[in-house]
Amino acid sequence: MFSEDLVPIGVFRGGNGLASVFRRLSRFYRPYRRFLYLSLGLLVLATALGLVYPYLLKTIVNQVIIGGHYHELPMLVAGIIGAAVVKGIFNFAFQYSGQVFGSKTGYDLRNSLYRKLNTQPFAYYDQVHTGDLMSRMTADLDAFRMFLAFGINNLVSLFLTSVFGLGLMVSMNGWLALVIACLLPILAVTAVRFDGRLRPTYRHIRKTLGTLNSGVQENIMGMRTVKSFAKEDREIVKFNGRNDDYFDANMDATQLWKKFFPFIEFVGNFGVVLILFIGGWLVISHHKGMNLGDLVAFLSVVWTLIWPLSNLGFFLNNLTQAVAAGDRLLEILEAPDELGDQGQHHTVQMLGNVDFSGVNMRYDGEAVLRDVSLSATAGETIALVGLTGAGKSTLVNLLPRFYDVDSGSVKIDGVDVREWDLQSLRRQIAVVFQEPFLFSTTIFSNIAYGSPNATMEDVRRAAEMADAAEFIERLPEGYYTLVGERGLGLSGGQKQRIALARAVLMNPSILILDDATSAVDMETEFKIQQDLERVMKGRTTFIIAHRISSVKRADQILVIEHGRVVQRGTHDELLKESSGLYRKIFDMQFQDFESVASGQAASQASAQATGKSVGQASAQATGQPLGQAVGQAAGKSSGGFSGVAVPGGGCVE
Ligand SMILES: Nc1ncnc2c1ncn2[C@@H]1O[C@H](COP(=O)(O)OP(=O)(O)OP(=O)(O)O)[C@@H](O)[C@H]1O
Ligand SMILES: [Mg+2]
Repeated sequence: MFSEDLVPIGVFRGGNGLASVFRRLSRFYRPYRRFLYLSLGLLVLATALGLVYPYLLKTIVNQVIIGGHYHELPMLVAGIIGAAVVKGIFNFAFQYSGQVFGSKTGYDLRNSLYRKLNTQPFAYYDQVHTGDLMSRMTADLDAFRMFLAFGINNLVSLFLTSVFGLGLMVSMNGWLALVIACLLPILAVTAVRFDGRLRPTYRHIRKTLGTLNSGVQENIMGMRTVKSFAKEDREIVKFNGRNDDYFDANMDATQLWKKFFPFIEFVGNFGVVLILFIGGWLVISHHKGMNLGDLVAFLSVVWTLIWPLSNLGFFLNNLTQAVAAGDRLLEILEAPDELGDQGQHHTVQMLGNVDFSGVNMRYDGEAVLRDVSLSATAGETIALVGLTGAGKSTLVNLLPRFYDVDSGSVKIDGVDVREWDLQSLRRQIAVVFQEPFLFSTTIFSNIAYGSPNATMEDVRRAAEMADAAEFIERLPEGYYTLVGERGLGLSGGQKQRIALARAVLMNPSILILDDATSAVDMETEFKIQQDLERVMKGRTTFIIAHRISSVKRADQILVIEHGRVVQRGTHDELLKESSGLYRKIFDMQFQDFESVASGQAASQASAQATGKSVGQASAQATGQPLGQAVGQAAGKSSGGFSGVAVPGGGCVE
């Protein structure tokens, strides 16, 4: 039936095979094994009861039909009905306890997976795809749960039916039983070989489903970008491609089934015909007293066997899918734990003294920080400036241990961050990320996210500090306004201010503002800084900013270039270094502001005369795009200083 390249592999092997996957997942189902035992016990009873039918049938044929004892018929029929009712009850009970076994295990597994996802390090999320994770959490988990709930019972039921059935057949007629026994290995070998083919196919199906889900999820998240670039058609084509892959993978499986099912059916029917032929001959020749009733009873046992046997492939497929799915769940469950290597150091009140010494850090082999040293005493404000991609975010991410150094050390209060208890460390460091994330809940809950005991008064005060109170109170539902997914419905600056309020409310010892006010206007930023200066007294603050105006009051300013600290000092000190990057950045922003301010009137006049916009006119006048001009002025041929393009506001100096 199958070609010779078909290798009997899969479920019975070690490694990622059945035994290994089930052993590694056993801590989830072992606690509930009593439900499995109960289910299997009831299954044995139900199967045993099913074998009463052939005897009743035999009696009906021999005694009632041939023997003419019609008065026995009601009793025998009642017997059949009674057996069916009791068997039905057992069936229900064994399926129910099987379901309980599967569902309880699934529940624990789901919780563990979720907990695990929450303890994964940042680096983990640099690699995984949300859609794929979702698919593992739902489809794969369900495949495994369904096997526990139904699959095990199905396989055991098949085994029991075969053993009981064969025993019964042997007791009825050894020769006929031998015929069936010859056919069974053909079925079993075919099913196992079939499973070997099916297993990689199902793994592929699961993988393509994960990719498909990732695509959908990314597309929905990025819908605004898709639409703004009018790339709907390309996205649809991309999706169709992934859908094709998923479809093809499913069709591969269907192709295999297409070969398997008719073959099994053929073997089953061939067995029935053989029994009819040989059995009929035995009855006619009255071999060893064999009569019609015996043949009918024998055939009924054969029929009882054919159904589960023809489903052997299907049951094995459930098992195969469960192993493939379990394997994918284990990839999440057995990923190295972030919390595994944390230290014990614990304080209620971190002071906020920070020391970086000789820090080197790389992402995937690419050096991003090189020999960075800095030292900040509690309460100081440290500003980091530098071109985009210089490594500023990476540097501050080392403080709450979002990533670890490759060499060197990062110490807080004299203790290496790797020695700190992670919870204690992170509860006292608040980070406002470059791209703030808001949960789809109320503004109140978003601000109180890191401080669950905060009162409305606390939240309001934090919002005032972040200059968010005014706009929040203007919203129809104020602090109870629901924000959309990822904060949709709010402006960029509003989101940043809510994120800032969230950080302020945490009352942290170290506050990290990673470009936290890039989206607010300069006036608001100025107000926020004044408020923050008050609240941050006695706390260490790291400010990353592209505007000189945001950093000039810092106690120390570090200029980062290609992962190195190339300059350090106060604003005034750095301005004196006339050939330094800081001075260049400052000049650019200042000149840019001045040129825009002074050029405004002239270009407006010429723009009006030519009928062009101001931007268009000035870009044409210089003959090069602004970013390029800026990059060159900064002594760079590539990159660009992303803050420069916003010179308005007038508080550069
Ligand atoms: N998670 C990551 N995985 C791999 N590489 C990364 C990761 N995050 C950042 N990088 C790379 O590390 C370098 C420094 O990035 P970083 O985010 O620290 O820059 P930055 O100075 O904060 O820039 P910006 O001003 O644009 O925010 C960049 O080249 C970036 O591509
Ligand atoms: Mg950054």
